[in-house]
Amino acid sequence: MEQNKVIEEGRQGEALHQPTRGGSKKLFLESYGCQMNFSDSEIVAAILSKEGYSTTQTMEDADLIFVNTCAIRENAENKVRQRLQDYRKAKRNNPNMVIGVLGCMAERLKSKFLEEEKLVDIVVGPDAYRDLPNLIEQAEGGQKAVNVILSKEETYADIAPVRLDKNGVSAFVSIMRGCDNMCSFCVVPFTRGRERSRDPESIVKECREAFEAGYREVTLLGQNVDSYLFSGGGLKKEILTEEQRAAATNFAQLLEKVALIHPDLRVRYSTSHPKDMTDEVLHVMARYDNICKYIHLPVQSGNSKVLTDMNRGYSREWYLSRIDSIRRIMPECGISTDIITGFCGETDEEHLDTIRLMETVKYDYAFMFMYSERPKTLAERRFKDDVPEEIKKSRLTAVVNLQQKHSEERIKAQIGKVHRVLVEGPSKRSNAMLMGRNTQNTVLVFPKGQFKSGDYVNVLATSGTAATLIGEVVN
Ligand code: SAH
Ligand code: SF4
Ligand code: F3S
Repeated sequence: MEQNKVIEEGRQGEALHQPTRGGSKKLFLESYGCQMNFSDSEIVAAILSKEGYSTTQTMEDADLIFVNTCAIRENAENKVRQRLQDYRKAKRNNPNMVIGVLGCMAERLKSKFLEEEKLVDIVVGPDAYRDLPNLIEQAEGGQKAVNVILSKEETYADIAPVRLDKNGVSAFVSIMRGCDNMCSFCVVPFTRGRERSRDPESIVKECREAFEAGYREVTLLGQNVDSYLFSGGGLKKEILTEEQRAAATNFAQLLEKVALIHPDLRVRYSTSHPKDMTDEVLHVMARYDNICKYIHLPVQSGNSKVLTDMNRGYSREWYLSRIDSIRRIMPECGISTDIITGFCGETDEEHLDTIRLMETVKYDYAFMFMYSERPKTLAERRFKDDVPEEIKKSRLTAVVNLQQKHSEERIKAQIGKVHRVLVEGPSKRSNAMLMGRNTQNTVLVFPKGQFKSGDYVNVLATSGTAATLIGEVVN
């Protein structure tokens, strides 16, 4: 079960302790949840650096503790609640410390957070970060401060993020915010509000600046990047005439603009939505070597009835036809997915459809979760969370075990080939080794030699472990 737990918490569970950067007041900033949250934390750091804050890695030294939270599953929220106990201890020695909760859990709970947790001084939702200086001032004056107003326009387009990543090689760039999809299980539309796309010029500018600062990879972020559409004049997507729509920038065009910045700047993106992913995007990917051949295409379930109940907007057949298009246009493309087990009403047979779909696709990687009912969602209102915990768990184990087998097969198939790898830094296990990824997002580990972070090297994969290739440089 431990193994499932690790995978279940995989993408959403990571906390990042940010490195130290200039300024006199100290901010301890921690992020949970998806890459969008990590990217938002860089906006927060930028807003606060103007107020004289620098980030610190030591909680005890902080004047201000901010935790950027996730609400996607109950587990994610429990983790934050536990973490608050550590802040409580730190505050005991430093009573002037201000503690703020940011992000999706703050948005979901709003001022209820203050009732639940006397410790917390500030509650702020993802669209209200420009108000942070005011909120901090209020809190310093001894008042509790809340701003959870969601916006239809805010994209923070003009704010240059303070990069907080560890490697200086790979940067995240938000291209849109919010989500209009209303998948029935999902809390995101409630915590992040309506979908809006960011001005492509500001995106290209940010990516170019990252490249000039030494970054060699950008990941364009959105909950559904395929639905990106920007038209000037702040016009909303829904009211565009056909002509205006044709003149607007879509995701394929944006991707191309970013790819053209420099051939040595790798471009990745996340997340694709099967109902909206176009062949136009796939052709742009195929045309540019620096757009990575890797697609994260969450399926959630392999059964069409379950997909309908999830309100995903596609069937099993549609999904598989999208996979066929990827394989036809980019035979070497890596594909990963997200899977939920034990959604409301899911039968054994429907679960087996997910297993069979996995057998058909053979994903390189997957993030797998047990269904966790979220307040206010369509599923909570319409359906009963009626699959017993034990069955959710056993189905999760089945998908995890199968995925492990597929991941190993995928790794094996890449042994004996030469991979172009972007070096990200020392490997986890040894400083004598470096790690980086190939275009398909597979991690490779190899002896350090003369190479450093940000270099491109050709690595011959000679062996592999469950999720990693091991090799030697053949430049
Ligand atoms: N926008 C992305 C997903 C963002 S959330 C998309 O549409 O694919 C990341 C993943 O968390 C989802 O793909 C889903 O697999 C999982 N997830 C979301 N809500 C969940 C819930 N209530 N219970 C379990 N897993 C959930
Ligand atoms: Fe949630 Fe669906 Fe939007 Fe993804 S597309 S964030 S799963 S509502
Ligand atoms: Fe979590 Fe919010 Fe991302 S709920 S997954 S941090 S959008």
